[in-house]
Amino acid sequence: MDKSEIIKMKQACKLAAQVLQYTEKFAKPGITTLELDKIADDYTNSIGATSACIGYHGYPFSTCISVNEVVCHGLPGSYVIKEGDILNIDVTVKKEGFFGDTSKTIKVGQVSNAAADLVETAYQAMMIGIGAITAGGWTGDVGFETNKFVTRKGYSTVKEIGGHGIGREFHMDPFVPAFGKKGKGERFIPWTCFTVEPMVNQGTEDFEEHSIPGSSIKYYTTSDKKLSAQFEHTILMTDTGYEILTLI
Ligand code: MF3
Ligand code: CO
Ligand code: CO
Repeated sequence: MDKSEIIKMKQACKLAAQVLQYTEKFAKPGITTLELDKIADDYTNSIGATSACIGYHGYPFSTCISVNEVVCHGLPGSYVIKEGDILNIDVTVKKEGFFGDTSKTIKVGQVSNAAADLVETAYQAMMIGIGAITAGGWTGDVGFETNKFVTRKGYSTVKEIGGHGIGREFHMDPFVPAFGKKGKGERFIPWTCFTVEPMVNQGTEDFEEHSIPGSSIKYYTTSDKKLSAQFEHTILMTDTGYEILTLI
């Protein structure tokens, strides 16, 4: 990306972060996930962006909202959020041809100690993964540190789904998994962007795939119905290191 493209990319990422920050305030007991999605979509449009998810391979909503055992791509719907739930809100916006992608898992009211620990571990897993990014480094460096941290806590990382290159496209190379080997995978290229978005499961890493009517996107739930948590930032590689673009 050249300088003007990076400026646009930063703007898209900032807007995505703003949508997430705005929407999460409404994630309280009694609201449905569809209402939350509408809040996110209206706000996205009000700040001059559009949702990248609506219509993406037929996906019908503005956000993905993944509650409890839903690993990712959860569909907003009639589910009423209740105290004790954990829910990931994943926002991707498009602005002037560029995509910004970010998510976080929210604790609704008082959650169990086990749920709180999982959410905290998923957040730290993302930050430790990001911390493993170096100029000239590899996607495997990120995955290795993420997986080491998560497994030492007694949890598991989802293997087949993970981070991705992003920029003028929503999803592109490289794949940035939450497991791997140091010095393996793909090399980070300066002035390109990608996401770090580990999915951390309380129990087994195995998941079930569910289809979404009219869409080739799938959503996923843990096979053992235990909890799953995730956080996501979009990262810019520079020639000396990296910048987190979805921080506000
Ligand atoms: N935001 C998700 C990700 O982190 C992708 C959602 S695709 C959708 O890659 F179609 F389900 F919205
Ligand atoms: Co993503
Ligand atoms: Co996302």
